Amino acid sequence: MAGTYTFTIIKPGAVNNEHIGPILNKINNSGFHISAMKLIKLRTAQAKKFYEVHRDKPFYNDLIEFMTSGPIVVAILEKENAVEEYRKIIGATDPEKAEEGTIRKLFAQSMQKNAVHGSDSDENAKIESDFFFSNSERFSIFEERDF
Ligand code: CMP
Repeated sequence: MAGTYTFTIIKPGAVNNEHIGPILNKINNSGFHISAMKLIKLRTAQAKKFYEVHRDKPFYNDLIEFMTSGPIVVAILEKENAVEEYRKIIGATDPEKAEEGTIRKLFAQSMQKNAVHGSDSDENAKIESDFFFSNSERFSIFEERDF
């Protein structure tokens, strides 16, 4: 069964260009519930750990430099089949290949400055969400609320 949450980052370029509001609006209008969120600035060691899978890629050093260049928004988004549904609304990694109306088509500047990150699997959604959020910082619509 597909998972009910995914993890996203609104990257430094999009934050710097005042795109937080429009991106969150698109996320909500696409039926996602924001179950955790914060504005933070990554330290280099954190960014290196988060992007460890890319450490042998030619763009790794640039990626770390960019992702630590300014504040980012990290969030957990809930919806049935969240990973796949979110990847549909963000579009391709390369904004030139992203479909019209997708977040990357609307807000990305380049392959590196591609506005947002979205988990590519349920397994990574869990790893990435746990990397940034403790249980007391998460408020699920799929679990009982106490307010
Ligand atoms: P994301 O999928 O969020 O995580 C890995 C990031 O590496 C990706 O977004 C891009 O921002 C970046 N990336 C992937 N491929 C390239 C590339 N060929 N050149 C530059 N950056 C890349």
